[in-house]
Amino acid sequence: MSKPFDFELERLTRPSSYSGMVRGARIGQRGTFFLETFGCQMNDHDSEKVAGVLLSRGYRQVETPEAASLILYNTCSIREKAAQKVFSRLGEYRAKQSDGKVIGVLGCVAQQEGEQIFERAPWVSLVCGSASYRKLPEMLAELEAGNHRVTGLDTDTDETFETEMTRRDNPWRAYLTIIEGCDKACSYCVVPYTRGPERSRASDSILKEVRQLADLGYSEVQLLGQTVNSYADPTPRKMCFSELLLAVADVPGIRRVRFTTSHPSDFTPDIVQAIESQSRLCDHVHLPVQSGSTKVLRAMQRTYSRDEYLEKIEMMRHAKRPIAITTDIIVGFPGETEADFEETLDLLDEVQYDGLFSFKYSPRPNTPSLAMNDPIPEEEKSRRLAILQEKQREIQAARNTALVGQTFEVLVGGKSRRENQWSGYTTSHRVLNFASQAKELLGIYVQVRVTGAGPNSLVGEHAV
Ligand code: 5AD
Ligand code: SF4
Repeated sequence: MSKPFDFELERLTRPSSYSGMVRGARIGQRGTFFLETFGCQMNDHDSEKVAGVLLSRGYRQVETPEAASLILYNTCSIREKAAQKVFSRLGEYRAKQSDGKVIGVLGCVAQQEGEQIFERAPWVSLVCGSASYRKLPEMLAELEAGNHRVTGLDTDTDETFETEMTRRDNPWRAYLTIIEGCDKACSYCVVPYTRGPERSRASDSILKEVRQLADLGYSEVQLLGQTVNSYADPTPRKMCFSELLLAVADVPGIRRVRFTTSHPSDFTPDIVQAIESQSRLCDHVHLPVQSGSTKVLRAMQRTYSRDEYLEKIEMMRHAKRPIAITTDIIVGFPGETEADFEETLDLLDEVQYDGLFSFKYSPRPNTPSLAMNDPIPEEEKSRRLAILQEKQREIQAARNTALVGQTFEVLVGGKSRRENQWSGYTTSHRVLNFASQAKELLGIYVQVRVTGAGPNSLVGEHAV
C-alpha cells in the first residue's frame, strides 16, 4: 500500500498526551536516550513502551544520537535487507561510542543474533529481544552500574510486556498489543523464533488501558498482534477475539477500533458479525494470503488452501456493510512455478484487494524453508514482484475511482504546507486528501466528499 500521505505533511504531535502520566518521575536525572525503530507496527509500539520505561526512570528522550548518552536501536529481521541495515547502522554508531555512549540493540535482530552481536560489534552493551522487555528496568540498572555486557534473550515466557507508562507517538491513534509472539509455523518466517510463543494479554488489563486512553483523548485504538485474531483471554472471563472487539468499542469515548494482523485460519464468522453489528469497528481487515497457489501455501505451512482462504473472503463480501480487504504476498518462494505465480495473479483478480504489501521471498536463518530446494533467481523474483504490483495498481485505481462522489468520515491526521489542504483516514483505512477553509481540523472527524482518485489515495472536499 502507499505511504500514509501523498504529499509532505506537517505531522503535529501532542507531547502533552503522556505528560500527565509521568508525574513523580525523576525527569532528567539519568541522562538522555535516542531510540530508532525499524520494522512493523509491533516494533513501533514496543518502542513506545520502551520509551515509557526509560522516561519513568528519569531519562529524557532526544532527537539525535549525538545528543544522547544511551542509543537504542529497535531492529527487524523479517527480511535479510532489514537485518543488514542493523549492522551498517551499528557501524555508524561505533564512532559515537568513543564519547562514552552506551549502545543497545533491541528487537528481532537482537533475539536472532544474540550474544554474537557483542562479537560483531563489541561497542554494543545491551542485547535484548522483545520477549525480555519486561525485564528492562533491571537491565537498565545493570547498565547504569557500568556493566558492558547485558543480555535479555529468553523466549520461554508466558508473560507479556506491560508497563505503567507508554510514550505514544501518534496523538490520535493509540496502538495496543493484545497478543505477543506467534504459535503458527510458517516455513519462511522468523517471528516464532524472534518473538517467542503466543501470549495473550488479560482482557481486564486491555480494557483498563483502553479506558485510560479514552480519558487521555484518544478516540481511535488499533489492537496489535502477529496473529491478532488468535487472541485467547487467559483470565476466567475467557473472552474470545470478537467479544474483546465489541467490549473495546463499548468504552465511552472510543470511536474507531482497528486490528491487525489477522490470520486466515482463525478468521471466524463471529468477527464479521461483530463488524456488521458495531459501526465503531472499522470496516477494514488485513488478511495476508501470501500466495494464490495451494501447493505453495502447503510448502509455506500456511494451514489453509486457496479455496479455504476464498471462503473467508466470501464471508466478508456478504457482510451487511462493505469491508475493505488488504493482504500480504510473497513472490519467489522456493519451488514457485510460473503457473503458481499465475494463480496468485488470478487471486488478485478474484478478490479485488483494496491494498497490498508485496515482498520478494528472503531466506532467513532458523526457518524450515531455508533448506528448500529450487530457489528462484533474484531477477525472476523482481520480475514477478513488478508484475504483481502493476496489476494491483490497476485494481486499486479502479476501486478507488468507483468511490468518487461518495462522502466518508475522515479522522484528520495531517495538514499540508499548502494552504487549506488536509489529510486523514477513512474507516476503511484509505488516505483522503482534501481541501477545507476550516482553521483547525487536526484530530477531528469530518465528512469529506470524494472528487478524485488515484491508486493510493483519494482526493476530496470538506462536506459541510
Ligand atoms: N521473506 C519475504 N517476506 C516475508 N514475510 C515474512 N517473512 C518473509 C520472508 N522470509 C512477509 C509476509 C508477512 C509480512 C509481515 O512479511 O508477507 O505477512
Ligand atoms: Fe510469521 Fe506466519 Fe506467525 Fe505471521 S503467522 S508471524 S507469517 S509465523
